[in-house]
Amino acid sequence: MNLERFSLKGRVAIVTGAGTGIGQGIATAMAESGARVVLAGRTRSRLEETEETIKGFGGEALVVETDVSDRDGRESLVATALETWKQIDILVNNAGVNVRTPPEDYREEDWDHVVETNLKGTFFLTQLAARHMIERKYGKIIQIASLAAITGIPHIPAYTAAKGGIASMTYQLAIDWAPHNININSICPGYIRTPLTRPVEESERGTYILNRVPVGRWGEPEDIAGTAVFLAAPASDFLTGQLIVVDGGWMAGG
Ligand SMILES: NC(=O)c1ccc[n+]([C@@H]2O[C@H](COP(=O)([O-])OP(=O)(O)OC[C@H]3O[C@@H](n4cnc5c(N)ncnc54)[C@H](OP(=O)(O)O)[C@@H]3O)[C@@H](O)[C@H]2O)c1
Repeated sequence: MNLERFSLKGRVAIVTGAGTGIGQGIATAMAESGARVVLAGRTRSRLEETEETIKGFGGEALVVETDVSDRDGRESLVATALETWKQIDILVNNAGVNVRTPPEDYREEDWDHVVETNLKGTFFLTQLAARHMIERKYGKIIQIASLAAITGIPHIPAYTAAKGGIASMTYQLAIDWAPHNININSICPGYIRTPLTRPVEESERGTYILNRVPVGRWGEPEDIAGTAVFLAAPASDFLTGQLIVVDGGWMAGG
């Protein structure tokens, strides 16, 4: 097989939440695969660390400080990407937050914060990028969902609702946008070691997770990056409207 079909050479990717964790892993891998990468997030210093790594191996990256839960933030992200590189081929909606509280005590403000970022921010950034992709008749959209979209995980009702929404939306948008040559898929990562999951990893549940996952370890951001690059590359042109579970065998484990 021609490995060029796995290359992102000549492509421009926006990756949200690119300063840490899974987003940093995906942004770096996409740059290694030849894409120019727009690094989006709220904290410039973290994004600059990813930028430094990418520029260190001769890749191209652009830092854009953005809050995806804010309409102006989303608009200026897309506008800056287009002004700089004239095209957006790939969008990775990775930015996400979580608030863990038993559902009976869950606060409305926490619900709003999680859903505004993880679900509303994801949809409306996708909409902005897709308008441009529809004009160009090309696009690859990758949503970072979660195991929470397909199984019960304690104490995260808003996160679960948002990730479930992302997963359902993947089917919906895939059929509306397939005629425009836009592929949209979701990755459902299992337990990955990042700042988001550090409190869980360090708790009693962290030990339970480690003992239950068939591969016998927590995942690393790089474990998600390969799937993201594949979903962004021509090799996956016939793949759309799917949830891809990357979990070290967690779901298979029953
Ligand atoms: N780690 C896991 O086990 C796991 C499992 C399943 C799914 N996920 C999903 O994977 C994604 C990445 O999470 P992670 O584990 O890598 O955690 P993380 O390191 O905390 O990454 C989340 C990123 O999102 C950014 N972000 C948060 N709110 C934002 C906003 N309003 N606007 C722009 N950027 C924002 C954060 O940067 P700033 O704070 O600087 O903005 C941060 O870089 C999330 O969607 C998460 O739900 C993670």
